[in-house]
Amino acid sequence: MMDNNASTTTTTTTTTTTTSGGGGSSSQPKRPYSRRARVLLVGSGRMGQIRAKAIYSNPRFELIGIVDSNVDAAMKLAEMYRTRHFPDITMAVLEMNTTLFGISADRLIDGVIISTPTSTHTSLIHEAASNGLHIFIEKPVDEIANKIRFAYAIAKKHKVQLCCGFQRRFDPSYRALYQQVHTLKAIGTPLSATIFFGDHPVPSRSFLLAGCGNIISDCSAHDIDFIRWILQDEVVSVYATGMSSDEELKEKKVIDNATMVMKFGKAGTVVTLTLSRGATYGYDQRCEIFGTHGLVSITNPSETCTHLANGTGVHSPKLQHSFPQRFELAFVNELDAFADTLLLGTLWPITEKDCVAVQNVCDCALESCESGEVVRIV
Ligand SMILES: NC(=O)c1ccc[n+]([C@@H]2O[C@H](COP(=O)([O-])OP(=O)(O)OC[C@H]3O[C@@H](n4cnc5c(N)ncnc54)[C@H](O)[C@@H]3O)[C@@H](O)[C@H]2O)c1
Repeated sequence: MMDNNASTTTTTTTTTTTTSGGGGSSSQPKRPYSRRARVLLVGSGRMGQIRAKAIYSNPRFELIGIVDSNVDAAMKLAEMYRTRHFPDITMAVLEMNTTLFGISADRLIDGVIISTPTSTHTSLIHEAASNGLHIFIEKPVDEIANKIRFAYAIAKKHKVQLCCGFQRRFDPSYRALYQQVHTLKAIGTPLSATIFFGDHPVPSRSFLLAGCGNIISDCSAHDIDFIRWILQDEVVSVYATGMSSDEELKEKKVIDNATMVMKFGKAGTVVTLTLSRGATYGYDQRCEIFGTHGLVSITNPSETCTHLANGTGVHSPKLQHSFPQRFELAFVNELDAFADTLLLGTLWPITEKDCVAVQNVCDCALESCESGEVVRIV
């Protein structure tokens, strides 16, 4: 089980829950291993496949079924994990209810893990919440701040938790960074930070030229979330600018490299976040925080630990391929934390305020990129 405050050791054995909903509410202490959390996975694409593996390999979960509007995709993943498949959440709940006649649906399924395209999130959150199910949702909840608020309002109305997946908060290196900077104050007051997000592999030419997504909305959210969390501070202004790495992209106004400079309010910390669509040498995610008493950084793990030293130099292995490899353990920890929410009623560490704040910074960075001006965040 994961400690939400990033301490290194936790051995929670019992807890008293105040939340209610699909996981059931009770004022009685709950035993963490008394039963498994029954979940539906919605979406069987890139993230769905990562989630299916993490659910299946966690003994605290029972994968009740896979929901996907693409029936073939749902069937294929369901076969792989020896579970059932359904065309939608309501159908799954109804069918489970009918199968085990007489037992109320909210005890048959505890929660859903929604791994579908962002544009579908709000309506699926509505469907899951109105069926009394706790919800894990891929980031971002939505790309419009008001729709994020609306999604949380729906969850509140139906007394279920809405748990957004910002995976760096569950990664051991980022959690150690939190410990050093926030808990232990090992670098004193943070003065500046430099973050680099180099994506790999480079998206297809057709994806880039079609202008699908923009680099700030697509790539900055995780880093904005974790730096706010580590600094325990809010961005008060942002300046962003970008460039196109070749003539064709420039002609189509496709920005594939961007830099954001964010000023934080309490301590005045200045954070530079540089994003690139194409780190040709592997998935490159680095962070360096500099403070009055030192510096702390996160470097990249490589594909292997094998280094060759010879007459031509010291040769290191390639960086890991992409996010499924780099954040594999974070994804496992993240879903284990969701099991805590379902089985123990543990409050999810990422809140509505966090999700809205991240979206506001993204929106203001986009505005700055277009206007060329610093944008103040109110
Ligand atoms: N945490 C991370 O690091 C991370 C990484 C990548 C993507 N994401 C997020 O994960 C989400 C999914 O991204 P992806 O790359 O896996 O998408 P994807 O396109 O690979 O897969 C989406 C799946 O959802 C299904 N689907 C679409 N609409 C549906 C509906 N209404 N009901 C049921 N199924 C539906 C599709 O058929 C498809 O199988 C996005 O919100 C994205 O931002 C998070």
